[in-house]
Amino acid sequence: MEGTIPLLTPYKMGKFELSHRIVLAPLTRMRSYNFVAQPHAMLYYSQRATKGGFLIGETSGISDTAQGYPKTPGIWTKEQVEAWRPVVDAVHEKGGVFFCQLFHAGRVSNYGYQPNGQPPISCTDKMIRSEFQLYGDECSAPRRLLIEEIPKVINDYRIAAKNAIEAGFDGVEIHGANGYLIDQFMKDQVNDRIDEYGGSLENRCRFALEVVKAVAEEIGAEKVGIRLSPFADYNDSGDSNPESLGLYMSEALNKYGILYCHMIEPRMIMQFEREETENSLLPMRKAFGGTFIVAGGYGRDDGNEVISNGGADLVAFGRWFLANPDLPRRFELDAPLNKYDRSTFYTDDPVIGYTDYPFLESSSQ
Ligand SMILES: Cc1cc2nc3c(=O)[nH]c(=O)nc-3n(C[C@H](O)[C@H](O)[C@H](O)COP(=O)(O)O)c2cc1C
Repeated sequence: MEGTIPLLTPYKMGKFELSHRIVLAPLTRMRSYNFVAQPHAMLYYSQRATKGGFLIGETSGISDTAQGYPKTPGIWTKEQVEAWRPVVDAVHEKGGVFFCQLFHAGRVSNYGYQPNGQPPISCTDKMIRSEFQLYGDECSAPRRLLIEEIPKVINDYRIAAKNAIEAGFDGVEIHGANGYLIDQFMKDQVNDRIDEYGGSLENRCRFALEVVKAVAEEIGAEKVGIRLSPFADYNDSGDSNPESLGLYMSEALNKYGILYCHMIEPRMIMQFEREETENSLLPMRKAFGGTFIVAGGYGRDDGNEVISNGGADLVAFGRWFLANPDLPRRFELDAPLNKYDRSTFYTDDPVIGYTDYPFLESSSQ
């Protein structure tokens, strides 16, 4: 092992024997026609799979009210589950570990994505201010969920998790970040409820923790992770005390014994720009008992550093992994990286900007 960089050291994540610590971050690619994963995703994910490597799939809608972007996959119908299966098999053939990210857009959606053109659902009826929207179509005014409707939404997460396991995924990551439904409940700048799901920190986190509990009971806590972004205000979802929120969640999650907590670095004040900040994830890393994954603006050097200084167990890479299918190999060799092309992040071509990023000459597909 002498001379091996920290990112390339093995790590045991629960029952999963990972051979390195370079994780594929969840990346929406908008190439799933009619909300169904497509065969071209087999090549895309298998290109990025390695023996003992950990991949988090693009975010996948949990129900017919969950979508907010075009051509994003779902995991709520039988057809969607069947479509994921060969994609998961392709990753497993390479020896990869593959989780499905479970998504509900909440108010980051519009009538066009909703059954019968209904308003999108959220914890609130306040509309997202469009200037704070990450990307996508214009959002519609949401409808505040009635308290008696909340168990049904939690149940949708449970069923979606069950579906993901049926499709062959090794586990699920609950998407609690980036201003979507779960984050909307957690953040005090969005959540204006006066019932037991709003107000105090404990109340605002209740929905997230009930989802965690339901999903963990359904598929086993050892197969469940969650992604959080307490410091980010993407999609108009800021909080007045992100540190307390992150810490409260890290501690509360311990009760459910889930596999991992995946947090976005506070320096990602803008989703795709690194900025200087005094804030740190260290208190949350220390408070959480399971595997801790960090993401946001990482490269080879600071990735190695955060592993060696104990700031994280694993590092998720988004844009670099998108553009470099053989990222672990390139990091191993300290080889140059392909640049990513933002203009094809979200286009629907099954090849261009998707599976045509070149490998190093010396590595095989
Ligand atoms: C094209 C693209 C799609 C993304 N889709 C998702 C997603 O589906 N779910 C999610 O949690 N984050 C998503 N993100 C955020 C990434 O997972 C990651 O946190 C972000 O890119 C910052 O990491 P990086 O600096 O390594 O790219 C996306 C980012 C990009 C660039």
